[in-house]
Amino acid sequence: MANEVYHPDPSMKPTPYIKSMKEYEKMYKRSIESPEEFWEDIAKQFYWETPFTNKFCSYNFDVTKGPISIKWMEGATTNICYNLLDKNVRNGMGEKIAFYWEGNDPEDYSRLTYKKLLIQVCKFANVLKSKGVNKGDRVAIYMPMILETVIVMLACTRIGAVHSVVFAGFSSDSLAERLLDAKSKVLVTSDGVWRGEKLLCLKEICDAAMERSKKFGHEVESCIVVKHLPRLNASQSRDGEGKENDEKSPEKRKAFDYQVPWDEDRDAWWDDEMEDASSSCYPVWVGAEDPLFLLYTSGSTGKPKGVLHTTAGYLLYAATTFKYVFDYHPGDVYWCTADVGWITGHTYVVYGPLANGATSVLFEGVPFHPHNGRYWEVIQKFKVNQFYTAPTAIRSLMKFGDVPVKKFDLSSLKVLGSVGEPINSEAWLWYYNVIGSGKCSIVDTFWQTETGGHVTFPFFGVLPVLLDENGKEIQGPGEGYLVFRRPWPGIMRTIFGNHERFETTYFKKFPGFYTSGDGARRDEEGYLWITGRMDDMLNVSGHLLSTAEVEGALAEHGAVVEVAVVARPHPVKGECLHCFITTKDGVKFTPKLSDELRRRVREKIGPFAAPECIQYAPSLPKTRSGKIVRRVLKKIAQNDRNLGDISTLADESIIEILFANLPVQD
Ligand code: WTA
Repeated sequence: MANEVYHPDPSMKPTPYIKSMKEYEKMYKRSIESPEEFWEDIAKQFYWETPFTNKFCSYNFDVTKGPISIKWMEGATTNICYNLLDKNVRNGMGEKIAFYWEGNDPEDYSRLTYKKLLIQVCKFANVLKSKGVNKGDRVAIYMPMILETVIVMLACTRIGAVHSVVFAGFSSDSLAERLLDAKSKVLVTSDGVWRGEKLLCLKEICDAAMERSKKFGHEVESCIVVKHLPRLNASQSRDGEGKENDEKSPEKRKAFDYQVPWDEDRDAWWDDEMEDASSSCYPVWVGAEDPLFLLYTSGSTGKPKGVLHTTAGYLLYAATTFKYVFDYHPGDVYWCTADVGWITGHTYVVYGPLANGATSVLFEGVPFHPHNGRYWEVIQKFKVNQFYTAPTAIRSLMKFGDVPVKKFDLSSLKVLGSVGEPINSEAWLWYYNVIGSGKCSIVDTFWQTETGGHVTFPFFGVLPVLLDENGKEIQGPGEGYLVFRRPWPGIMRTIFGNHERFETTYFKKFPGFYTSGDGARRDEEGYLWITGRMDDMLNVSGHLLSTAEVEGALAEHGAVVEVAVVARPHPVKGECLHCFITTKDGVKFTPKLSDELRRRVREKIGPFAAPECIQYAPSLPKTRSGKIVRRVLKKIAQNDRNLGDISTLADESIIEILFANLPVQD
């Protein structure tokens, strides 16, 4: 398949923004040769309260020459919320739908126009102000995929506050760590949420997190809670909740029994706060390089990194990548399935689409509820034109064959996007042929929390380079470390509160370059294929994790003396976790212990990090100096006997024992 070329069907896109490869090349060339002019032109479509003063872009990308610094449009002032909402409303788009909201339950849906969104955002910005939130303060968001989540994010930007969204699948410990690191003043959440058939009691998790954060020295001042469950409970009753609410449905019983924990001094209901809030809120003009948001991503030391994005550059980049990569035209309906808790949700559910005045679908549910054709049903319902999802979702839906797809009319689709991990050819072909009927273009978008937006094909302004282990540039076909030579507007500026870690993580390995941590292969035509992480990161269902954080969670168990975690390929998740555990002397490795360990990872990090396999290891393969040789463990986990050079191991005999005890894999 790698040798086959699939061209976009000409009937699909009579008027794309970029009409040919030639035109792309011309634009790309200009973005590289005259980046300031290129982005300055793009900046003209937005509102700047004051223009930029010095240079349009200034930076130092070389640690050997001084601190890393990246600045776009320094001196300019603006407000992102103003650009996303007020500007569009003023341009006559007030009645245009910003979001179609589709709940977990198909009966539960609504819509929000640009004008109504603006009113809600202003009201909530006033609520935040009443809670003492000022410019620069951090506001944590632990929410389901509901309209209020977008409202909170934009309300923050309206007053210059910095949002820190935490994916509502993270455990209370993970949330606590993020509250503490960001010193978030306010936390916004909902009482709970249904995800498929499962109930998540979010407020309970928040309470545990706030308590933990307080114990470690940071107290969240206010917690604002959206009442979300009663609405869902009400809609359940439509299909006869009385009948179902018996022993067959413990989850539903749990929902009816759920008493939302409450602290009168700290907690407030969303509706009570919004009731009297004024719907007018003048935007706070902020500097181009003032912080916009923080988003935590896994770090190889185990402690998550608060990736910081700033205002002007991120706006330009989110808007421009969205427009060109998805070829979004006015009137189109766009749907990105990512949760707002990840960067994809930030840039391509919220900022990119709204900056283009787009109409999007915001989906709360899961692809398998109430049936395996839910995604396709939603595409049909809203006549979606651009659909953006992850290979892991495609693979999990492919399993059910073409029948659930064929039940729905997907003829509205024009562009299909893929993100989060390398897409395998089987999944690509199914996406192309079955979902896209062999007509839609597929955009494979490589990027990271740190990059702020898409960086491949390469996108405008992006200069990818391949380096070998010694930092020597690989010209022409070959494989190596994927690095970037200069900043584009949307790249992160620092790690919150730790600029040194920022420099060490991304700029020390190869001075003069931003190191992505990924590897890539350049083919004969110059196309770059991402090969995956080259560091201690794992990619489970498109979620990045570090071996260190999973090992940390397991090592805390009293029965464990040593642990090593590696990734192995998984047919649906892309990669999954395989953990090797050495127990303390006299402690037996039992299925019960294995369950306990798995639970520990769920509690410390979140359910999505739960290991696929926990294997007992009487000892671990180590070098003579005592370093665990993960390379060998990775091979064992894959049952691959091509171990390479093992002469440096202190004791080779453990290898056979580990192979012999390898649990049966699916
Ligand atoms: C991986 C998600 C191959 C990569 C936007 C990267 C991909 C990490 C792709 C970032 C892709 C993301 N092809 N690999 N199209 N997209 N990745 O920060 O390893 O959650 O470094 O951002 O996901 O994950 P993050």
